[in-house]
Amino acid sequence: MDEHSLHQETPLTRMKREAGYHAAGMVEDGMVIGLGTGSTTYYAMEHLSALIDEGLRIQGVPTSFQTEMLARQLRIPLTTLDTYPELDLAIDGADQVDPSLRLIKGRGAALTREKCVAAAAQSLVIVVDASKCVDTLAAPVPLEVIPFALQPVILGVRALGGIPELRTGVRKDGPVITDNGNFILDCSFGTIGEPERLEGILTLMPGVLSCGLFCAFVEKSVIVVGRDEGCRELRL
Ligand code: 5RP
Repeated sequence: MDEHSLHQETPLTRMKREAGYHAAGMVEDGMVIGLGTGSTTYYAMEHLSALIDEGLRIQGVPTSFQTEMLARQLRIPLTTLDTYPELDLAIDGADQVDPSLRLIKGRGAALTREKCVAAAAQSLVIVVDASKCVDTLAAPVPLEVIPFALQPVILGVRALGGIPELRTGVRKDGPVITDNGNFILDCSFGTIGEPERLEGILTLMPGVLSCGLFCAFVEKSVIVVGRDEGCRELRL
C-alpha cells in the first residue's frame, strides 16, 4: 500500500473508499471478522473504526503485521484464529477478479494468512475498485515459498510454462521476506484458462506454502466493486 496515496483524493481512491465503506456497513454487531490487507481494506477499517466509536462491537483477526498495526491505531479490537477458528465474515482486497468471482491476491505478500482467514470465514467480502474486474485472470500469480525449496519450485513453475520472478524489496536489498519468514515468487502464466487446475497444481508443489489464486471461495463471496457512480455487489 502506498501510504501517501491514501491521503490524496483521486478517482481511484474514491472508488476504493466507496467499496471499503460499503463493506464495513455489512458488518453486524457482535461479529468476529477477518481483516485483510491492502489499500482498499484500509478504507473498510477506517469506516469500521468510526462505527466502533458509535457503539459497534466487533473483533478482528488481522492478516498481516501492517493490518495489525493499523487496527491498533484505529482502536479495532483484535483476536486470533486460536480463539476464533471460525469467523462470521472476512473483508479483503484483490488484484484481479473474474466473472466467476475467482481471484488473484498477494500483491501485499499476505496471501497465506489471507487464505487462512478466507477459509475460516462464513462469508468473504472482497473490496475492489472497478479496474480490478477482468474477463480472464492474467496477472502474475504470487506463491509464498519456503527459502529451502526456492530452486525446485522455480523449475516446477517453468515446467508448467510459467515465468517465475523472485520478488525483491523496495527499501530493502534482496528478496522480500513475508510476515511468515518466506519468499514470494511472482509467476506469470499469461491468461489463465483453468484457474482451479493451476491453483491445485501450484499448491501441491513441495515448498509452496500458498498460492495467490483464490478459487475455492466463490460460493460464499460477495465482490463489492467501487465505481465512480457508487458501489455494485457481485455474487454468483
Ligand atoms: C495483499 C492482497 C491485497 O488485498 C491485494 O493486493 C489488493 O490490494 P489493494 O487493495 O491495495 O489494491 O492480496 O496480499
